Amino acid sequence: MVERTLIIIKPDGVQRHIVGEIIGRFEKKGLKLVAAKFVQLSEKQVGQVYAVHREKPFFKPMVKFLSSSPVLLMVWEAEGVINMTRKMMGATFGLYAEPGSIRGDFSCSERYNLIHGSDSPESAQQEIKLFFAPNEIIDYKLTNSPWLYVKSASPKK
Ligand code: PPS
Repeated sequence: MVERTLIIIKPDGVQRHIVGEIIGRFEKKGLKLVAAKFVQLSEKQVGQVYAVHREKPFFKPMVKFLSSSPVLLMVWEAEGVINMTRKMMGATFGLYAEPGSIRGDFSCSERYNLIHGSDSPESAQQEIKLFFAPNEIIDYKLTNSPWLYVKSASPKK
């Protein structure tokens, strides 16, 4: 099934000039960009994205970090996009993330981790709604889609 995911390039990604690198990886993979906004989030907005972590000890510093400087909000679309983008992001922190992943290649921090991606279709739907009205998500055809999304003749699932 075609899914959408909310990707946030966090303040460290913007400040460290890795925005183009991250977008380039998703583009080259073949994912479809359907919405984007460059904004500075308020503490309230960050709190809404991470509401399930409100009681965690890292919540306050995380809110400060994410509201400290601009971020790039994007919606990417493809079948299986949530799983694919999370694999491309790598483990939560660069200190532990695999080489080849975004965090593994560009971060060695245990706090600043460059990028957020929704972790399930349900959270993607909620997170996208926080930042994008339906008419801000663009429905268009990728002209090269016949070269990208070819299905197996004998599907595994
Ligand atoms: S948990 O407790 O296992 O559910 O938490 P975890 O999945 O590791 O992290 C949830 C999100 O919180 C972010 N996080 C932090 N940000 C900044 N500083 C600190 N210390 C910190 N600890 C956790 C972590 O990156 C996850 O956010 P996203 O944006 O999804 O990566």
